[in-house]
Amino acid sequence: MAPTVRLYNAWVEAHQEWGPGLHEDGFGLLPSDEVNSPAGFAAWVARLTDEADPAKPNDAGHVYRWIVEGDRVLGGIALRYEFNGAVPPMGHLGYGIRPSARRRGLATWALGRMLDEARGFGLEQLLIMCAADNIASAKTIEHHGGVLEGMRDTACGPARGYWVKL
Ligand SMILES: CC(C)(COP(=O)(O)OP(=O)(O)OC[C@H]1O[C@@H](n2cnc3c(N)ncnc32)[C@H](O)[C@@H]1OP(=O)(O)O)[C@@H](O)C(=O)NCCC(=O)NCCS
Repeated sequence: MAPTVRLYNAWVEAHQEWGPGLHEDGFGLLPSDEVNSPAGFAAWVARLTDEADPAKPNDAGHVYRWIVEGDRVLGGIALRYEFNGAVPPMGHLGYGIRPSARRRGLATWALGRMLDEARGFGLEQLLIMCAADNIASAKTIEHHGGVLEGMRDTACGPARGYWVKL
C-alpha cells in the first residue's frame, strides 16, 4: 500500500525491529528524516507522497509501497526512475523486509507487484542492483527473470547489476 500516516504506530514498531544503524532498504528514508514523532513522520510521508505525484515538479518518479499484513508493517519497496531515462546510481528498485518476516516469499511477491506497476508507467526494462554477497536479493531478482549484466561499483561497494525486461 502507499505510505500513510495511519500506520504511524505500526511503522515505528517495525522500525524498532530493524534497530539503529541498519538501513531500511525500500523506504526512501534519508538521514535527515525524523520519523519518531508524529509530526516528523507526517512530514516524511508527505515527502514520499509528493515524490510519487506526477503533478509535482520532480525530475524523477519515486513510487513507494509498504508491505502490510493486518496491523503490521512487514517491509517496503521503492521504484525510482528518471524522466530523462538515466539509470539512478543504485538502480531502479530497492526493497527490504523486516527481519522477523523474511524467508516467507514477501520480497519475491512485492517485486512482482512493483514490476506490474512499472509496466503501467510504460517502462521497458529496469536495472536492479544488489550487493555482491546478497544471495537472498539475487534470488529474488532471478525469480523475476533478472539477467546478470555484471558487477558495478556503487557507493555501497561492488554490486551485481541485473536487468529485468518488462
Ligand atoms: C533480501 C530480502 C529483501 C529478501 O526478502 P525475503 O522476503 O526474505 O525474500 P523471499 O522470501 O522472497 O526469498 C527470496 C529467495 O531468497 C532465498 N533466501 C531468502 N533469505 C535467504 C538467506 N538468508 N540465505 C539464502 N537464501 C535466502 C529464499 O529461499 C528465496 O529463494 P527460493 O524461492 O529459491 O527458495 C531480505 O533478506 C532483506 O530485507 N534484506 C535486507 C535488505 C536487502 O538486502 N535489500 C535488498 C537490497 S537490493
